[in-house]
Amino acid sequence: MQYNFDEILDRQGTNGSKWEQAEAIFGEPDLLPLWVADMDFRGPEPVLEALKQRAELGIFGYTHRPDSLYEAIAEWVERRHQWTIDKQWICWSPGVIPALAACVQTFTEPGDRIIIQPPVYPPFFHVVKDHGRELVTNPLRCTDGRYEIDFQDLEQKFKTSGAKMLILCSPHNPVGRVWSREELQRLESICSDYGALLVSDEIHADLTYPPYRHTPFASLSGRAAERTVVCLAPSKTFNLAGLQSSYIIIADKELREAFNKAMAAGHYTMSNTFAITASESAYRHGGEWLDQCLAYIRANLEYAVAFIGQHIPEIQATAPEGTYLLWLDCRGLGLETAELKAFMLKEAQVALSEGINFGPEGAGYMRLNAACRRAMLEEALLRIAAAAAARRS
Ligand SMILES: Cc1ncc(COP(=O)(O)O)c(C=O)c1O
Repeated sequence: MQYNFDEILDRQGTNGSKWEQAEAIFGEPDLLPLWVADMDFRGPEPVLEALKQRAELGIFGYTHRPDSLYEAIAEWVERRHQWTIDKQWICWSPGVIPALAACVQTFTEPGDRIIIQPPVYPPFFHVVKDHGRELVTNPLRCTDGRYEIDFQDLEQKFKTSGAKMLILCSPHNPVGRVWSREELQRLESICSDYGALLVSDEIHADLTYPPYRHTPFASLSGRAAERTVVCLAPSKTFNLAGLQSSYIIIADKELREAFNKAMAAGHYTMSNTFAITASESAYRHGGEWLDQCLAYIRANLEYAVAFIGQHIPEIQATAPEGTYLLWLDCRGLGLETAELKAFMLKEAQVALSEGINFGPEGAGYMRLNAACRRAMLEEALLRIAAAAAARRS
């Protein structure tokens, strides 16, 4: 079927954070919300239908995950990412971030060092620091708007810190890179040299734009699979974040058993009834929706980059290779962190995610979520352009 991503949706009454909490969080009325990473689109029709049918049954007791769900996931991963997995490798978590926290607690000790690559999704900092581990950063290097891993610095950091784990964001939020197979192989080789475990957050795996293709880290080689935890979820792919479901693929038996033991100890093993239904339906029947959705978002991203290039010379934007997030270099506005925040909220009346929250490397940047109606994106960019023009004059 043909989906209409221009449909105007009323998100009030859905308990959705993006719209309903924007004023409380940002302290300003009438903001256009382009911050938290969910989409302003209805989900795939087969998923909505399956959820309605499930609700009709009227029974919402304790659940188990059927074999058919494991099969649907394994088939999706094979079809979309050419990665053949054993169903037994699939573990469960209510979310990717809880899984990252469980990995930190299970595979490292208090005081151990863990490497992350900022600018990066803010909870990466918290899952390390909140559990009494030490953060070591290997900042990404940016040349003309394109970010790369600084491998030399990474080697140095492993050498000097003795870090036990690296938490990778792949594809990368917020810079939008889809790491190439060569980059991942180099990363794998360094982690192997230093005996580090790689925890790969691949929640944005399905959101890539050709010719860029996602490579699951554990699919690189047998050696990579032995030392990797891959975190995936239907939440970003099919806009199901509110159902709180993710799955963690761990090929190595020992690592898997340790992870499962930790999740069982925290009593995190139960699934949400609707998450089971929605996930299986999405992986079996959601591909058509996803392909159309990605085409729509890609056009949004290209439009935004072109508009900014033509009308807002103070801001630099590069179209991402993956994710629906646009990382805006706003340093040309010449504003300090608090001033940039106030500029977007008070002068442009748009709610974006502040770059500084992604690490000090994000100072002067803003993250814009382009998974919204084109008309709203246009309005948001016009507001930013008008506010920048007013400052200029
Ligand atoms: C890289 C990354 N990891 C994890 C999450 C959130 O995962 P979850 O809601 O499953 O905890 C997000 C959400 O934006 C994300 O961008």
